[in-house]
Amino acid sequence: MPRPHVASDARWDLLRRAQCECAPVLRTAVDWLGEPFETMAAYHLGWDVGGSSGKSIRAALVLGAAAACGDTSAAAPAAAAVELIHNFSLLHDDVMDQDATRRGRPTVWAVWGQTNAILLGDALHALASRVLADMLRPAVAVRAVLRLQSACVALCVGQFHDCAFETRPAITVDEYLRMAAGKTAELMGCACALGALSARADTETTSALEQFGYQLGLAFQIVDDVMGIWGDPKVTGKPVGNDLFRRKATLPVVAALNSDSEAGFELAQLYQSTAPMTVDDVARATELVEAAGGRQAAHRHIDERSRAAIAALPDRVRSEDLIALAQLVVDRDR
Ligand code: IPE
Ligand code: MG
Ligand code: MG
Repeated sequence: MPRPHVASDARWDLLRRAQCECAPVLRTAVDWLGEPFETMAAYHLGWDVGGSSGKSIRAALVLGAAAACGDTSAAAPAAAAVELIHNFSLLHDDVMDQDATRRGRPTVWAVWGQTNAILLGDALHALASRVLADMLRPAVAVRAVLRLQSACVALCVGQFHDCAFETRPAITVDEYLRMAAGKTAELMGCACALGALSARADTETTSALEQFGYQLGLAFQIVDDVMGIWGDPKVTGKPVGNDLFRRKATLPVVAALNSDSEAGFELAQLYQSTAPMTVDDVARATELVEAAGGRQAAHRHIDERSRAAIAALPDRVRSEDLIALAQLVVDRDR
């Protein structure tokens, strides 16, 4: 069925608005870096070609949560801080994953080397706390830094498991979900919590919004996994089949490996072999994941998590924008 263009364009507008609102804060923060990091950061963020190459979903979550709580006046620094943490994690992740392409362009490490990509990541990480400490009222800043750095710890633990899974033979769906929660959902939950915090929402509302972002984060990661296998590399900006080449334990693969089916067994052989995956192996693995029900299982999880996200929102903060963001996360193709 063709996509309803008008509705989906309106959703992407939400992201563009979020980008515009946190751009001045991000520019100030990047200025603080000085050269040569300024140029590297501008490249990573796509500013050198006159735009912003990231989707800014996390910034939109911060701003959407703050708006749902009725006050966006202090949301921009929180949104920028979350985007800085996200981009720090991507810079380091591309080194860990040895990915030479992101957002359709060579990654920072591929251009400036691994040492510089690691250092730029560290600097963006530090900038996130500096932005909060510098631009928010002290009482809010302290809570925001604590919240953001807790999410950052969870993200590192999640990344540890994601990398460790590459050399482990059998992973359960529950283990995958715990890893994805750390790697992705914690920061998206934190984005919503920071939006609520910046709007001085009560604890109950903040937790509800955090739960919305967390459940949506799980859906987001599984959508990412699906795109990594069946996405269009021209749209995603990432090489297709990369996760399968590296025998990553993504949700479609984990579900397929645990499916107790012929296709699942054949896939397990491909995944357990120590020989490098060939292009033909990846094509076969793609068919096997689908035949073993991995793609269907992924869509079931995405559906469940996005429903749980929306169900977590009490009526008073169930805004149209937050619902639209949840739909965008599920329907996106990049
Ligand atoms: C990205 O993880 C980094 C974090 C979420 C911490 P992935 O390796 O799964 O994602 P891509 O495909 O490189 O964006
Ligand atoms: Mg990666
Ligand atoms: Mg990774």
